[in-house]
Amino acid sequence: MFKEKAQWNVGQLDEEVLVLAVWSKGEFTQGVQAIDREMNEQLTELSKQKAFPIKKGECIDFFTLGTLGAKKIYAVYLGKQGELHKDELRHALGNVGLKLKKEKVGQVGFVVDSFLQGGLSTDEVAFTFGEALALSSYDKVTYKEKSNEVKKNLSAVSFYVDEEGFTKQAELGYTYGEGANTARRLVNIPGNLLTPTDLAHEAKILAEKHGFDFHVLEEDEMESLGMGALLAVSQGSDQEAKMIVMRYNGNKDSKEVTALVGKGLTFDAGGYSLKPAANMHTMKTDMGGAGAVLGAMDIIGQTKPKHNVLCVIPSSENLINGSAMKPGDVLRAMNGKTIEVRNTDAEGRLILADGVAYAVQLGATRLIDVATLTGACVVALGHETTGAVTNDTELMERVRRAGEETGEPVWAFPNSQPYKDMLKTSDVADLNNAPGRAGGSITAGLFIGEFVGTTPWVHLDVAGTASKDKGSSLGPAGATGIMARTLAWFVAHS
Ligand code: BES
Ligand code: MG
Ligand code: ZN
Repeated sequence: MFKEKAQWNVGQLDEEVLVLAVWSKGEFTQGVQAIDREMNEQLTELSKQKAFPIKKGECIDFFTLGTLGAKKIYAVYLGKQGELHKDELRHALGNVGLKLKKEKVGQVGFVVDSFLQGGLSTDEVAFTFGEALALSSYDKVTYKEKSNEVKKNLSAVSFYVDEEGFTKQAELGYTYGEGANTARRLVNIPGNLLTPTDLAHEAKILAEKHGFDFHVLEEDEMESLGMGALLAVSQGSDQEAKMIVMRYNGNKDSKEVTALVGKGLTFDAGGYSLKPAANMHTMKTDMGGAGAVLGAMDIIGQTKPKHNVLCVIPSSENLINGSAMKPGDVLRAMNGKTIEVRNTDAEGRLILADGVAYAVQLGATRLIDVATLTGACVVALGHETTGAVTNDTELMERVRRAGEETGEPVWAFPNSQPYKDMLKTSDVADLNNAPGRAGGSITAGLFIGEFVGTTPWVHLDVAGTASKDKGSSLGPAGATGIMARTLAWFVAHS
């Protein structure tokens, strides 16, 4: 879909829409000047009339009235030269993407030199173009009588640029955006249409697409491996639990194996510690962690970094029936530790206990788990920032930096000994799965940490960030696909 055109002249511009950036001060770039000349200096005139947008990231359009091949020009305002943050550019280009979609534009050209005034490298700008065009193109599937399937109109994107390699970086960014869209699609599927069995099926399709090793543990195998925590959560459901495993071996010479472990609760009613009715339906997104790691694997399969990656997804429903786990039950996880279930709604840490222990047994040398784990995290950080707990500050810093690059901020919670002690408050078992509201996100994370041994580990709580009530230029309300890009970026740059 992307191509670049070097040494272009204005006569060549034959796309329906041309997009250029304008800045608060200074000359038009060469590319924009060329267009301005062709348009009898109407751009200069518009600039004098202050007709361009003034809010950073905003995009306006105007007709070229026969002066150019393109029917319309979109002008994006990017603020002061040299002061553009990558997140701002991503959002600005998302606005362009939305507008192209709304106006059903099939071919678009970008006057690239006008976008290079912000202080970002050309590669960064190119990558961000691809990312933003993919992210903003996502449409949520609905199940209404009238299908919402939108025809994807955009079929050709030309980058008018003299620097080589722009398209390649843009395509890379596009692959990242598409990975996030993979996560979004899965997370938005309702619980009746995405059971653990369905999730395993989706994972299998993805593994086949990329040639990953793939395996699913069934309940009898879990039983013989001693995965008492995952099995206990699944007891209350008619659906079979699944432990989904896939591997990408990108570096045979390296012993390093990065494990990505995702919480795959396809629906969380809370179990006997039942959730209130009002927002229970939103718990169809409780496999946001699984979505993130699958989205990341989609990117990894496409981009083939020289690293070994192990992906593990414990998947279950958390419901109620006559054999469901009960408050007060004592479970034994696969690493032998016992857990008293003080609250059946704290199920994510239970399935992840077996999930991370299994990843370590399969050879993980470092581990990142992603989970919609605690309401407390939403209270602490809202919907903007992912909360983290770690046993390794260096690994934590790398993950945090990856999140900075992709515009998915991550904030590490403190994790001193007193928090760890709070887990040791059961008089019948090694661990208490719900030690109380105080520091809830921290104790939840540290609970998972009890099952990783000494393996360097980062836990990412995406309870607030995996889905949103409001859409943005980079996607509609609902699943965000958070952490798919960050995890893939982390793997590629570590
Ligand atoms: N899936 C929820 C956490 C959640 C809450 C995700 C809101 C997204 C939005 C998790 O399983 C849960 O129920 N956690 C409990 C833990 C508590 C019982 C210790 C919570 O946060 O209330
Ligand atoms: Mg729960
Ligand atoms: Zn849950």
